[in-house]
Amino acid sequence: MKITCIGAGYVGGPTMAMIAYKCPDIQVVVVDINAARIAAWNSEELPIYEPGLFEVVKAARGRNLFFSTDTQKHVAEGDIIFVSVNTPTKTRGVGAGKAADLTYWEGAARLIASVSTTSKIVVEKSTVPVKTAEAIEKVLRRNCADPNVAFEILSNPEFLAEGTAMEDLAMPDRVLIGGKETESGQRAIGVLKSVYEHWIPSERILCANLWSAELSKLTANAFLAQRISSINSISALCEATGADVQQVAHSIGTDTRIGGKFLNASVGFGGSCFQKDILNLVYICETVGLKQVADYWNSVVQINDYQKQRFVERMIDAMFNTISGKKITVLGFAFKKDTGDTRETPAIDVCKGLMADNAMINIYDPKVTEAQIHNDLSLGKFMWDHPTTAGTKSPRQNSVSVFKDAYEACKDSHALAVLTEWDEFKRLNFQKIYDSMMKPAFVFDGRNILDHAQLRSIGFIVYALGKPLDPFLQRNYS
Ligand code: NAI
Repeated sequence: MKITCIGAGYVGGPTMAMIAYKCPDIQVVVVDINAARIAAWNSEELPIYEPGLFEVVKAARGRNLFFSTDTQKHVAEGDIIFVSVNTPTKTRGVGAGKAADLTYWEGAARLIASVSTTSKIVVEKSTVPVKTAEAIEKVLRRNCADPNVAFEILSNPEFLAEGTAMEDLAMPDRVLIGGKETESGQRAIGVLKSVYEHWIPSERILCANLWSAELSKLTANAFLAQRISSINSISALCEATGADVQQVAHSIGTDTRIGGKFLNASVGFGGSCFQKDILNLVYICETVGLKQVADYWNSVVQINDYQKQRFVERMIDAMFNTISGKKITVLGFAFKKDTGDTRETPAIDVCKGLMADNAMINIYDPKVTEAQIHNDLSLGKFMWDHPTTAGTKSPRQNSVSVFKDAYEACKDSHALAVLTEWDEFKRLNFQKIYDSMMKPAFVFDGRNILDHAQLRSIGFIVYALGKPLDPFLQRNYS
């Protein structure tokens, strides 16, 4: 059996590496139109950072795992074609700002149709709107010259989380496969199931109809993001009342009906999926006339934007309502720890908010490059996932400096803002940092990872999200 995956990104790369690693009897080829990305997958410097990924790729690469730009050849030869291309938010036209842009998906489908001379199972790995399989099937059938070639479409959404992708792939809570309720549909489900059964107990492989599987992925992301927005909304109330959001989260999380996960208040959720998938869900609800349902889910995104804005306003208020010309150090730019991914990271909106008030920003992140940061800060909303959009440095970005060392980044600054929960930030020598900063020295902990009592004893004025406010902050600004 040969598996070909179109799209060598955060999903295609790690998922295929795991399949190849666990299934030595299957040949797996990952193809992409991005030659630089493929070259990186074939090198010692993989294009994405994920703990444990390099070891898995190394074990399988050259044995039964290959990365190639020869899309036509490998798609033609594949028995199962995974499609793991990007499905960004539309930036123009009907549904702009909400609907999924399926240009890349349709391009992949047309490619499959044009080169296929044998029947294939086509697997939706990308997150797509409900009923995409129906549209894709039409594209495949109408564009394939050989009437004897059959395509069976399956939905197999990916539930991995960046930062723990390899663990999630090795031991997933569940794998979901959706297919048609026809005989050939069920047969195709069986084939894909047999791939996963190489290492996943069959009771963890859930089967559903196509539309349920497609909708399950959007719903899962909407529920996860909704928990974050829910606790973040409560963090604002905690600050107003003197309650402590961590104590509230712990108290409610011990109720088994609620559970303790995804209850950390923070400066906001980020990543390539949550916002995009909720907006897509909102758009689908609107198009089928479910306005109240659309409004409900849209509020999850609104609270997320509010939380980022609130954080910036807190910073400005605390620093005597003026940050113009003040140096502010941002610790962490990735959207979460253990990844170099900056797509939709809250750091972008926080930095832009501070830049709008003329702050000078020093940024340190252990995994994000200087070029990536400047690019991110130069792009407009939703533009990051449209490959033709190249970021150009705006004049205001001259106020942004990127550092390779946290201590250097903190020197002479008025405030630190922790925007990613990297473990190494907890181990910094804050006395040394305090001594090198302007006074009063502020810490704004957007992830609640630092030892706030220790920081206060050093002399910092501390703002911790959702925690009782320092007397200094209360006296002046509440
Ligand atoms: P990505 O942007 O990292 O990778 C997509 C790749 O597809 C790019 O390298 C692009 O060059 C390639 N591509 C686009 N059109 C192509 C074509 N016609 N032929 C060959 N290659 C083509 O995206 P990522 O993060 O891997 O996401 C892919 C899909 O998976 C999205 O729908 C996303 O919503 C979904 N997803 C992402 C997760 C994540 O954590 N990043 C988790 C679960 C699902």
